[in-house]
Amino acid sequence: MNTEIFTIKDTQKDAEKIAEIGRILAGGGIVAIPTETVYGLAGNAFDGSCVKKIFEAKGRPGDNPLIVHIAEFDEIYSIAAEVPESAKKLAEAYWPGPLTIILPKKDTIPDEVTAGQKTVAVRMPSHPVAHAIIKASGVPLAAPSANISGFPSPTAVRYVIDDMNGRIDAIADGGDCEFGIESTVVTLATPVPRILRPGAVTHGMIEKIIGKTDIDEAVLNPLKKGAQAASPGMKYKHYSPEAKLMIVEGTRGEFAGYVQAHKAYADYCLCFEGEEQYLPLPCVTFGREDDSLSQAHRFFDALRELDEAGAETVFVRSPSKEGVGLGVCNRLYRAAAFCFAKEKKGRIFGICGASGSGKSTVCAYLAEKNFRIIDADKIAKNLLDTDRSVLEEIQKAFGEDTVKDGSADRRLIADRAFASEELTKKLTDITHPAIIRKCRKEAEFYTLCYDRVFIDAPLLFSSGLDSLCEKTVRVTASDETRLKRIMRRDGISEESALKRFSTQKKEMLLSEKADFTIVNEEDDALYEQIEKILVNTEE
Ligand code: TXA
Ligand code: MG
Repeated sequence: MNTEIFTIKDTQKDAEKIAEIGRILAGGGIVAIPTETVYGLAGNAFDGSCVKKIFEAKGRPGDNPLIVHIAEFDEIYSIAAEVPESAKKLAEAYWPGPLTIILPKKDTIPDEVTAGQKTVAVRMPSHPVAHAIIKASGVPLAAPSANISGFPSPTAVRYVIDDMNGRIDAIADGGDCEFGIESTVVTLATPVPRILRPGAVTHGMIEKIIGKTDIDEAVLNPLKKGAQAASPGMKYKHYSPEAKLMIVEGTRGEFAGYVQAHKAYADYCLCFEGEEQYLPLPCVTFGREDDSLSQAHRFFDALRELDEAGAETVFVRSPSKEGVGLGVCNRLYRAAAFCFAKEKKGRIFGICGASGSGKSTVCAYLAEKNFRIIDADKIAKNLLDTDRSVLEEIQKAFGEDTVKDGSADRRLIADRAFASEELTKKLTDITHPAIIRKCRKEAEFYTLCYDRVFIDAPLLFSSGLDSLCEKTVRVTASDETRLKRIMRRDGISEESALKRFSTQKKEMLLSEKADFTIVNEEDDALYEQIEKILVNTEE
């Protein structure tokens, strides 16, 4: 799809461009638009099939509802079934602006927008370009943030282009976003109003207008397993840069001391302006220490800058939770997957198991117990996308044409490398050391905030990753069980499943030297076995 980009400097002078964007939206197209918070990906909120396209372009889970954007207050009556006095008061005080209000929905709003919920989120943005585009389209616009689902929200048009070019009809470039974090979301559909997502309109500002308002527990805490999310968005992985973040609490001096003592573990710091001089690592900054608005403004931008710089592991300064700071912390805690530096260093374990052994079930159980799992397979898969020196070596070994425009031709590499055992070894001699380096870096980084880190690697022993581990665990199951699992999971024949068995013989033999063995036959004994190992390896 060709994505047209409209640059809008002035809503008056660029009125023709705005009219054209209005026509695209009225015709069922989807367009990224600037708002005062972050860029949004907009489409006609009354048109379910158009809204579906938004979900597709973002890769967003279908059960996470969208916010409906309006230009005039009265439009709310075409969207919400009830508009209580408190909604009118909040709108009077903070609209247009970075506040979203959740109300009972009208049938005019299709289920695609609200993900089947009985409530709808409404907001009136203050950005003049957003306002003009909603007016020009003639309908309320459903719009989530204009990023690929899970990535940091886009605060500048270049990030929208990175994520959305070729996936949507048009992008309206209206410059950088003022606030930089998404709107405050408050629900009035509960007995006591409740903030589901903090933003630039603070808790204090809301209570001043409508009185007692709760703050949802999920704002600063991970959602408990099995708990119902008040806002479905909170259960998903969010705002995640490629770089791994760890929050280091304390004063400026304590942060500098921590980084100095642990500088071998990370390659960047995310800190406040002016602190770079005290820190022994390269830095990206996000605002000033005593100014939460400036931190919000820079936050997502800084995450994307870290990725552009190739940062892998990052120590982050902890912002204040007061006022707008609550919104900054809400985004940061999720971006860092709630990883906080601890006093005591954790330990590294390894876990392996052939196809169908049920290793994933074991890892899921360990993750639930708040141990960190490092997915070596994922690191291996990403290697060709992220590691320049590996690409160069592969190119040297397997031919110029295996890398084009900086990206690897996986097919060609596989064809050439798997032609003989000798060539396969040549490939793994290049990739295994790089995988080990990355796994080690990630594992050691996470020992700073987890009691135990498990490297989950199907080839733990053949790759040499076991050398990083204090103790190793293998998961096994009878051939019969494994065969059944593989055939069921991958929908393949017994013959193909057996073939996979034979390729894993070497690792199976090597893994016999693991310190512990778990037999996973899908019975209660499984969890007992895991617990026993955990107890046996306590310090
Ligand atoms: O500032 C913003 O709000 C930006 C700009 C583009 O307006 N939009 C935005 O949309 O952040 P999105 O989709 O990324 O986030 C919407 C959040 C999600 O967490 C979603 O779960 C929640 O609002 N939400 C939407 N409708 C809801 C509803 N009916 N009940 C509970 N939560 C809802
Ligand atoms: Mg979003």
